[in-house]
Amino acid sequence: MDVMGHDEEGAVGAPFYRPQGDECDVFAHAHALGLPLLLKGPTGCGKTRLVSHMAARLGRPLYTVACHDDLSAADLIGRYLLKGGETVWVDGPLTRAVREGAICYLDEVVEARKDVTVVLHPLTDDRRRLLIDRTGEDLTAAPGFMLVASYNPGYQNILKTLKPSTRQRFLSIAIDFAPPDQETAIVAAESGLAADRVAPLVRLAGKLRALKGQDLEEGVSTRLLVYGATLIAQGMPVERAVRAALIEPLTDDAEVKRGLLDLFTAVFG
Ligand SMILES: Nc1ncnc2c1ncn2[C@@H]1O[C@H](COP(=O)(O)OP(=O)(O)O)[C@@H](O)[C@H]1O
Ligand SMILES: [Mg+2]
Repeated sequence: MDVMGHDEEGAVGAPFYRPQGDECDVFAHAHALGLPLLLKGPTGCGKTRLVSHMAARLGRPLYTVACHDDLSAADLIGRYLLKGGETVWVDGPLTRAVREGAICYLDEVVEARKDVTVVLHPLTDDRRRLLIDRTGEDLTAAPGFMLVASYNPGYQNILKTLKPSTRQRFLSIAIDFAPPDQETAIVAAESGLAADRVAPLVRLAGKLRALKGQDLEEGVSTRLLVYGATLIAQGMPVERAVRAALIEPLTDDAEVKRGLLDLFTAVFG
């Protein structure tokens, strides 16, 4: 297989991912060089899909960890567990990935507890080491290991941004919602709804996204568009599908909802 993961077998069966730019390229090079990668972008724009696509193309196992504010270093590294009266060490997903040369994906990494970054630092420089203090093991990452993290810079939370000392250890790619033509193709492929019926949904999404920061905290994601289009493809009336997939998920405010429905009427007539 070449660096780009262009290998007839590797590509077969990889989850569908339509590139927006050169992100697959950058990903493949980062992997070949053993460099960690940070994916920045809003919820539902395709970050997780990119990682699963590239893991398949590169032929590496993938361990995904959804980070949350209680996630600790031990959750990543592993811990001693009681099994039938005996204490046994059980590797966490990061340790498994380091041993196997797998890809470890830390989704929404800023959510994790501070002690997690301490673990990541020696893994993200050229030592590529993971120290397991509980067992005394000092592991060097197996070839093929790659650390990928994602975060949503849209959350305007001062407390939850990556520290420069952490983010400057990662190559970074900014991903946004795909431009309308591409997003239409993605949603049509994912939902089975014809492209000419997807196009107005994508136009509506553009209008909803323009309200971000005013009436809406977040614009509508590609994921929600896929849900809406799937409902329509299965025969649900368009307005009901739009309400369930594109309006209710975005707001609880009755007045804002009415405004969003007006946008729907303007686009669909
Ligand atoms: N470039 C893309 N190619 C294929 N599908 C995509 C793409 N972008 C978004 N999607 C669709 O949107 C959904 C949500 O994407 P996901 O990767 O889970 O978002 P994120 O991880 O950024 O929150 C996917 O399940 C897929 O259906
Ligand atoms: Mg995700």
